[in-house]
Amino acid sequence: AKPVTVPDLAVLREAGHKLVMLTCYDAGFARTLDANGVDLILVGDSLGMVVQGADSTLAVTIDDIAYHTACVAAATQRVLVVADLPFQADATPERALDASTAFLQAGAGMVKLEGAGHKLDTIRYLVEREIPVCAHLGLTPQSVLRFGGFKVQGRGDAAAEKLRADALAVAEAGAALLVLEAVPSALAAEITAVSPIPTIGIGAGPDCDGQVLVLHDMLGLDSGHRRPRFVRDFLADGGSIAGAVRAYADAVQNGSFPTADHSYAA
Ligand code: KIV
Ligand code: NA
Repeated sequence: AKPVTVPDLAVLREAGHKLVMLTCYDAGFARTLDANGVDLILVGDSLGMVVQGADSTLAVTIDDIAYHTACVAAATQRVLVVADLPFQADATPERALDASTAFLQAGAGMVKLEGAGHKLDTIRYLVEREIPVCAHLGLTPQSVLRFGGFKVQGRGDAAAEKLRADALAVAEAGAALLVLEAVPSALAAEITAVSPIPTIGIGAGPDCDGQVLVLHDMLGLDSGHRRPRFVRDFLADGGSIAGAVRAYADAVQNGSFPTADHSYAA
């Protein structure tokens, strides 16, 4: 199948195709995702929690992400591989460029970073140097200490206004894709309606341009943490791992996932 490219993301959005994204960290699963309707694989720093067993993503290293990116890239032909900049790998634009270069050389086609603020300069710096960037706003897990836990973001007028402004700013800085995590559905819908770039939701309601879930969560594995409301076990319906991935892709595409049950009210 023809590989998904960065410019395809806007084309697919325009065509009304919901972007289907899952996290993945190894070749075995990556091959199954590549063949069953997934458009983008995120080599997420969630690997700190689901692979390494930590309580947060903060200890994940640049080498960890580069290693897992190479594992995923070796087994995929169609999906666009997005590699996560781990905690403080984007503390300066120069550091982010070094890490991103390693990820692209390992086979990624895009990198993701959390936040706006000073990160806007980093987004601009990377994009000017031919590194495609996915932004990530809302519940940014690398902010867990400041947030005091994994909590819904963007509630209340001031927080919602800040999120709307940040969403426009990351696109202005050159990001080509925007993940919105754990924000009220109505706010994610408003942002998606005005966003120049496609949005991908996780706990952000049904109106984003695409969806992402952590692979282990959508296969019903016990994470050792309280299961967030936006998770659905697709292995239960899918009957097999390939079936679960296909069921997820179909559900995102036909709008049967996520529902209000998987979403947050304002
Ligand atoms: O690391 C990750 O898995 C993520 C997604 C939850 C968006 O950043
Ligand atoms: Na992440």
